[in-house]
Amino acid sequence: MFGFGQLIDVLKKNPKKIVFTEGSDPRILEAASRLLASNFLHPILVGSEEEIDKAAEECGFNIRGAQIVDPKNFDRMDEMVELFCELRKSKGVTPEQARGMLSQANYFGTMLVKMGVADALLGGATYSTADTVRPALQLIKTKPGNSIVSSCFILVRPSATGENEVLAMADCAINIHPTEDELVEIAGESAECARIFGVDPKVAFLSYSTFGSGKGEDVDKMRNAARKASEKYPDLPIAGEMQFDAAVSPRVARTKCPDNEIAGHANTFIFPDINAGNIGYKIAQRLGNFEAYGPILLGLNAPINDLSRGCNASEVYSMAIITAALA
Ligand SMILES: CC(C)(COP(=O)(O)OP(=O)(O)OC[C@H]1O[C@@H](n2cnc3c(N)ncnc32)[C@H](O)[C@@H]1OP(=O)(O)O)[C@@H](O)C(=O)NCCC(=O)NCCS
Repeated sequence: MFGFGQLIDVLKKNPKKIVFTEGSDPRILEAASRLLASNFLHPILVGSEEEIDKAAEECGFNIRGAQIVDPKNFDRMDEMVELFCELRKSKGVTPEQARGMLSQANYFGTMLVKMGVADALLGGATYSTADTVRPALQLIKTKPGNSIVSSCFILVRPSATGENEVLAMADCAINIHPTEDELVEIAGESAECARIFGVDPKVAFLSYSTFGSGKGEDVDKMRNAARKASEKYPDLPIAGEMQFDAAVSPRVARTKCPDNEIAGHANTFIFPDINAGNIGYKIAQRLGNFEAYGPILLGLNAPINDLSRGCNASEVYSMAIITAALA
């Protein structure tokens, strides 16, 4: 079962560099100071050296040894502008426009990953999800074979026996109204992500209906998506459409769909849209005592993740490890 120790072991064997776009934020500085105290993940802080040093001193965090990169005096800026224009040539971006965009830490940090200066990026302590993710969509783009970038949350609830309960939920953060085919892709990517966290995925496509008990377009969408996903991933246990209670409760599953083996035992949940997904994971987090890690971006060509603006330093530290371990 999932523990951070396993991800740290991965990084110890192969240390990585992670860029933080909000280099002077106290939560980032605290997480960076913790990372610098160990040797498996090297932080790169974006911002002015003077401001970052001042902020670290004021908050009392030791960031000695951190690499600080300032878009204002980055020695490879001409090369970065040229690459940016090349990547955005279909949009006719001029060098002047590129320079303007690269003065913003979210675009600049994303280009540091694109140029190989960093292996991974974590942003969003102050930027919105859209402003963190958009540069990645535009510059890093989807992996070959994927049609979309999506996301999942990993939810972890410690149990009295010491065995953590680990679930995956998707897509709670990126695709607002995913189509049937996009849901299929989201399910495949989420199952793969769940495996990294020690889950043997059993995927439920969620709805307000269990195998035809309710009617409607959204029910059809989830049923069709589940069928298409089963065809695309024949070795992955997939079922749906089903209600959340039928997906997780063996007792309810025995009543509502006694012949289905996944019902009652699902651990990877595919929501019909971002409303359901975002509300759903937050209910698990706030009322169900699950710790929520994510959104973990899926289908992107490099590991880039988004923080919640309400995050604390310990969440920054955890997400940095998750992001870099996926690199
Ligand atoms: C992800 C999101 C920010 C993209 O929005 P956007 O930037 O307005 O999207 P656009 O349609 O302008 O697309 C920008 C680029 O990203 C690409 N893109 C957009 N969504 C994409 C996706 N899911 N996967 C891959 N690429 C995508 C577009 O193709 C476009 O590329 P191009 O500029 O090279 O043509 C948007 O879907 C969103 O706001 N999602 C919800 C975020 C949120 O609020 N989450 C809740 C809090 S966690």
